[in-house]
Amino acid sequence: MSDFSNRLLDWYHNNRRILPWREDPTPYHVWLSEIMLQQTRVEAVKGYYARFLDTLPDVDALAQAQEDTCLKLWEGLGYYSRVRNLQKAAQEVMEHWGGEIPGTSDELKKLPGIGPYTAAAIAAIAFGERIPAIDGNLLRIYARLERYEESIRTPAAQKKAAQYFAEQMPERSAAWNPVRENNGKGGTIAKDNPCGNFNQALMDLGNAVCLPGSAPACGQCPVADFCRIHKECPGKETSLPFIPAPKEKKTELLTVFMIRSGDRTAVRKRPARGLLAGLYEFPNAAGHLDDKEAVAWLRKNHVEPVRIKKIVDAEHVFSHKKWIMQGYEVITDPFAEQSIPFIMAGEEEIVSLYCIPSAFSAYSDWLIAQKQ
Ligand code: ADE
Repeated sequence: MSDFSNRLLDWYHNNRRILPWREDPTPYHVWLSEIMLQQTRVEAVKGYYARFLDTLPDVDALAQAQEDTCLKLWEGLGYYSRVRNLQKAAQEVMEHWGGEIPGTSDELKKLPGIGPYTAAAIAAIAFGERIPAIDGNLLRIYARLERYEESIRTPAAQKKAAQYFAEQMPERSAAWNPVRENNGKGGTIAKDNPCGNFNQALMDLGNAVCLPGSAPACGQCPVADFCRIHKECPGKETSLPFIPAPKEKKTELLTVFMIRSGDRTAVRKRPARGLLAGLYEFPNAAGHLDDKEAVAWLRKNHVEPVRIKKIVDAEHVFSHKKWIMQGYEVITDPFAEQSIPFIMAGEEEIVSLYCIPSAFSAYSDWLIAQKQ
């Protein structure tokens, strides 16, 4: 094993984070955690991970679940195509793989929602494959170790980082082959796994030592001796990686209507394709409508307002666009409720049945506050 690996794995042994998916790294657990951890912080994932497994403990249960159950379990995590693909992939695993999650990165990549990073992470962590899982942490660590001064947001940088870590990785020797116990539902257990540990060590190093913005803790770094930026430009470690300025996000204005009749509030299902596909939302219109325009929009949508009042403004930033929202509370005549073309949902249904994404959380919170 290289010196680099030795030092990194020793450090991991003593400093690793204790995380639920590491305690029992079946392929299903690792897969679920990796999908949840895309674009989401570890601390935020922990609760969702436990709740998801309580309801859907194995691939079979996930494959058979109602889509709305899966979406509800994902509510607040965002990027809902992740859970839809997860379920599609579970159905493929049941149909084509006899309930056993495939064990190589090449096979995993063929399942919906599993890209090169996720395939590598699952293959290494759950099955012991000798493959680095290159994410933002590993790119940053690579850029500093090798003093890579070009943009890290390119396929060339990805390739170089993958080559570098693949060379450093411990061999997958017979002694290190994970013990696999298939229970027919994706429950294959991996033990004694240096390649998985190598990847997770780099993730933890990126989280605790080789930090992105603030000064990295080079004094505590097990591989500082191998780090070119640290040795050649001490104190300048944060000058790398080079990340080109992101493009301005497109801004969209929205008017959100909290249409209320008695103790019910209007929700509607979003279209099956596109942003937040198939989730539920409070009815809304493009643009910031003034009172008159708002009333006209409501009437066009068969809602007869008795009273209308401005409520909270809110913003939500997606990966590629930003919504700037203004809200109206609209009280309607309960006797005219039948003509409203939206679902008139009680508070309990909004909380437990309809998955309303966090883009609307200012309005969900507003609604809850009205009850207090
Ligand atoms: N981020 C993505 N995968 C992770 C893992 N296995 N442990 C910690 N953070 C992660």
